[in-house]
Amino acid sequence: ISLRPFNSFGIDVRASHFAAFSSADELEQLLALPGLPAPFILGGGSNILFTNDVQRLVLKNELKGTEIIRETESEVYVRVQAGENWHAFVSYCVNKGLGGIENLSLIPGNAGASPMQNIGAYGVEIKDVFHQLEAWHIRDQCIVTFSAADCAFGYRESVFKNRYKNQFVILNVTFRLSRKPVFNTSYGAIEAELEKMGVQELSVRNISQAVINIRSSKLPDPKETGNAGSFFKNPVIEPSLFEQLKTEYPGIPGYPGAAGHVKVAAGWLIEQCGWKGYRRGDAGCYPKQALVLVNYGNASGAEIYALSQEIIDSVHKQFGIVLEREVNIIT
Ligand code: EPU
Repeated sequence: ISLRPFNSFGIDVRASHFAAFSSADELEQLLALPGLPAPFILGGGSNILFTNDVQRLVLKNELKGTEIIRETESEVYVRVQAGENWHAFVSYCVNKGLGGIENLSLIPGNAGASPMQNIGAYGVEIKDVFHQLEAWHIRDQCIVTFSAADCAFGYRESVFKNRYKNQFVILNVTFRLSRKPVFNTSYGAIEAELEKMGVQELSVRNISQAVINIRSSKLPDPKETGNAGSFFKNPVIEPSLFEQLKTEYPGIPGYPGAAGHVKVAAGWLIEQCGWKGYRRGDAGCYPKQALVLVNYGNASGAEIYALSQEIIDSVHKQFGIVLEREVNIIT
C-alpha cells in the first residue's frame, strides 16, 4: 500500500506489509505473527522522511483515549493514549483550564510520539510536564514504565531515538498539568502576538491561541504543502565559536543552550546561505521559515534528502557548523 496518506511530507513510497492496532493485545498478536519482516511503528507520520519503499511491517498506532488518573489540589495527571492527535490532546487540556502544554499547541503528530524527541516550542518542552509513559518491549513482550529520568530527555532527544531505537512501542503517556499555571511568555513572538490580540489577562486559552496564530502564520500546513516542521536542529556550539562568528556576522541570533553552550538559529544560517525560498522540482526550502523543507507535490524522499545535504554542506562551508537533521530519515 502507498504510505503517502500516512506521512506529512506526502512522500509516495510503498510498504510491503501494513496493519493497524488499537490495543496492546492487538499489537502483541501482530508482532507474534510468523514470517513477517521487522516492525516499523507509525504514529502521526509528521517527523519522518521516507527515502525508499519500506520492506517492513508498518504498524499504525491507533490507541485512543484520554483520562484523568489522579488529581491533587494543584495538579492533574492526564493519561493520553499514543494514537491520539497531539493538538486534540492540547485542546482537551486547554478546555479544562489545565496549564503546561498550551505553548505546544498545533504541533502536528500523535501524543505517543511527543516523548520520542521531547517536542518543544516557545520556551516549553514536554519534559517539563512529563510524568511517565508505558511502552511495549518488543523483544521481551511486556509493558515497561518509564519515568522522566528513564527517558533521558534532551533537546529534541530521548532514549527512544538512541539506545532504545526500534525496541519499544509507546502505548500511553501521562502528563502532570497544573490548575494554577505559571505562564511562559518569555518567547518574544508570544508577547507580541498577545499584544496584537489585545489580551488583558493571561490564560491558558489566550496563550494557546497566540501560539496557534504564530504557527499558522509562518509554518506551512501539511494538508496543503508537505513538510515535517523544522528539518534540522538548532546547532549548539561553543561560546568561543559564537563570539568569533559574531565579530564577522553581528546579526547572528544565539540563545543560551545546555551547559554554557550557545544555541544558534539554524533558520538564520540557512537563510544567510541563500536557500530560503529555493525550489528545485517539487522540493524546496520554505519561503517564510528556512528551517522547514517542503514538498510542493511530487518530490521524492531522495530529492528532499539531497536538498538537505546540500544545505548542510553550504552551511558548513560558510560557518563551520555542521547541521544535524531533526526529522527521522527512514531508509
Ligand atoms: N530565522 C531566520 N530566518 C528564517 C527562520 C528563522 O533568520 O528563515 C531566525 C530569526 O532570527 C528568528 C530565529 O531564527 O528569530 C528563531 O526562529 P523561530 O522563532 O521561527 O524558531 P526556530 O528556532 O527556527 C524552533 C523550533 C520549532 C519551534 C520554534 C518556536 C527547533 C529545531 N525548532 O524553531 O520547532 O516551533 O523554535 O519555539 O528547535 C519543530 O521542531 O518542528 C519546530 C517547528
